[in-house]
Amino acid sequence: MKPIAALSVTPEVYPLIKTGGLADVAGALPGALAAEHVELRTLCPGYRPVLAALENSKTVARFNELFGGPARVLAGRAGGLDLLAIDAPHLYDRDGGPYAGPDGRDFADNGFRFAALAKVGAEIGLGQIEGWRPRVVHAHDWQAGLTAAYLHYSGRPRPGSLITVHNLAFQGQFPAAVFPALGLPARAFSIEGVEYYGGVGFLKAGLQLADRVTTVSPTYAEEIQQGHSGMGLDGLLRMRGSQLAGVLNGIDTAVWNPETDPMIAAPFSAKKLAARAENKKALQARMGLAHAPDRLLIGVVSRLSWQKGLDLLLACLNFFDEHNAQLVLLGTGDPALEAAFQDAARQHPGRIAVHFAYEEPLAHLIQAGSDAILVPSRFEPCGLTQLCAMRYGAVPVVSRVGGLADSIIDANEMAIHANCATGLQFSPVTSEALAGALRRCATLHARKAVWKKVQLNGLKTNVSWSIPARHYAALYREVAPA
Ligand code: ADP
Ligand code: GLC
Repeated sequence: MKPIAALSVTPEVYPLIKTGGLADVAGALPGALAAEHVELRTLCPGYRPVLAALENSKTVARFNELFGGPARVLAGRAGGLDLLAIDAPHLYDRDGGPYAGPDGRDFADNGFRFAALAKVGAEIGLGQIEGWRPRVVHAHDWQAGLTAAYLHYSGRPRPGSLITVHNLAFQGQFPAAVFPALGLPARAFSIEGVEYYGGVGFLKAGLQLADRVTTVSPTYAEEIQQGHSGMGLDGLLRMRGSQLAGVLNGIDTAVWNPETDPMIAAPFSAKKLAARAENKKALQARMGLAHAPDRLLIGVVSRLSWQKGLDLLLACLNFFDEHNAQLVLLGTGDPALEAAFQDAARQHPGRIAVHFAYEEPLAHLIQAGSDAILVPSRFEPCGLTQLCAMRYGAVPVVSRVGGLADSIIDANEMAIHANCATGLQFSPVTSEALAGALRRCATLHARKAVWKKVQLNGLKTNVSWSIPARHYAALYREVAPA
């Protein structure tokens, strides 16, 4: 197969900068696509941790003026990636995270910070880097949404363009006043262009103008074309329906490998499943839970936001008393949810333990040591934690939405009989249905032989990037100009 060069334009990339699963995806795609003969380089903003990680970098492009100051593109290795970073101190050299300052408030100039990412992505697509010209530019989420617009309105021979929606809830909507500074022609401010509800819609622009639109699961691709899940963009998504595809994410099976993971207490595998018990013991000890090898231990690793539905769990806490079960929750986000879970832990010592931080080693130990992993999302474009759970022999208990519906096979009696069950699903996403799922989980856990089969089915499931990488490579080849 003929190799093809492509550029990924992303606001986050694991292991350099991450707020959610988008970073995992952007970090894993280049390696996965290499196997499909795609040479994928990654462009991201030069935030402090990104520039600090960049090794043997050299300047490959310069911009005299990029939204208020000079900028250059540095090429080098970082975190195992072939990275292109935008060195623009006036935009990215700041305290805080990629989108907000230390006070948690979004940066006032995010419109320009991410227009700059898209602009540079498009310029590289148009040949700005000497000796390297991608035939496809793949933008991720609203932050890179304008990439397709800059390409489209350049009026020059351009590479194919693709946008992936990781979460339709974040749309990058800015007031019309930013438009003149974007450097797009006046006609771009129209319904066929970047205009959205009287302002500039970064994600809308990408959905409108990219050659292909993908999202991260087939079910989410269907859901977002419907009014109640389309978040205002369903009409446009229906219009683009024939160019819209859902490609289920994978996980990086080198980062998530229970046989070699240095962050867990004891390695294990499908063949050595008993060794998993050491991880449960270590997790209980680490979190101050009673050591109890046979008690059902349910884990949660999540952003604490409305999307993730964890407020519903607060209404089900008596389950843990009634079934003598344990809960470990690792997450950060909504202060009200943190406070409520803190209270829950105080009221259920030894039974409920919480940790409010972003902490990768603990996330790995929870996957390795919990019996079940709960993901009760109200909507979930894909979700990665249920894939990690399968890989780590924890049984996912998930709501039947988006990528959760696509990745988990519910352990109903037929599926148990056919020996293909990998977890439990519930619907609708209410606390009553969640309570029902928790009870089903306890019942299943008590059927030791069946439970083990479900664990093993998960462990055997291919959750790697090998299948999705084929899809992306095929899409790249479709949109690349002849
Ligand atoms: P989203 O991107 O919507 O947050 P995903 O399930 O796609 O949801 O991805 C979440 C990723 O972030 C997973 O890799 C998960 O392990 C990780 N993660 C979430 N919260 C934490 C946390 N508090 N500590 C460590 N890792 C976390
Ligand atoms: C978003 C979604 C999540 C998805 C991730 C990676 O953050 O919320 O469901 O897994 O992107 O695509």
